[in-house]
Amino acid sequence: MALVAPSILSADFGHLARDIGSVAAADWIHVDVMDGRFVPNITIGPPVVQAVRRARDELAPHMVVDCHLMIVEPDRYLEDFAKAGAQVITVHVEVCTHLDRSLQAIRGLGVQAGVSLNPHTSEAALDYVLELCDLVLVMSVNPGFGGQSLIERVFPKIERLRARIDALGLPAKIQVDGGVKADNAWRFVEAGADVLVSGSGVFGAKDRAAEIRKIQEAARP
Ligand code: DX5
Ligand code: ZN
Repeated sequence: MALVAPSILSADFGHLARDIGSVAAADWIHVDVMDGRFVPNITIGPPVVQAVRRARDELAPHMVVDCHLMIVEPDRYLEDFAKAGAQVITVHVEVCTHLDRSLQAIRGLGVQAGVSLNPHTSEAALDYVLELCDLVLVMSVNPGFGGQSLIERVFPKIERLRARIDALGLPAKIQVDGGVKADNAWRFVEAGADVLVSGSGVFGAKDRAAEIRKIQEAARP
């Protein structure tokens, strides 16, 4: 069974708590933090993460609050996001000059540490930090916006990463993000992904719970 992480980027921010409750069938709740510098879009910061955490505590306490930081200089904000209630913090390898230090800092805050790869970034960039990763997030679109089509070239990358993590016997989970829908989820699972982020797929569905179940049970048709 794949874990599903609906992305609140596609939720109604005016009814955020209600929308978080509407995806309580999911396993994680994915929060996209964008700064208008690393990516061309601006979204939210720690106060909204705090609101997400409160809604999750009240309505779906089993869900893991998963913060995907698409920001430059993420080290400056790790503590703020941890204090706001993030349970996973993912930084982008492309902006971390001292990735080893950043991952250690996240772990030191008692939070699961994730690292994300843009579509053009090789999985080899993680060779010497995989042991510090609870999560590797493989972007299947260029980060910045919801509702984009997936980039097909991502599948061999997921396969290579899966093989590498398994060969080393490490516990790191593989997460994919961008263009994931109920009808293509099986392809990510077959390639070796454990956690599937879906924004427009889940929040755009008439029956969100049913859509989440389909992604959780994704298998080759
Ligand atoms: C894109 C974000 C994604 C986005 C996914 O930069 O990181 O989490 O919300 O949206 P969909 O599932 O619509 O492609
Ligand atoms: Zn994301």
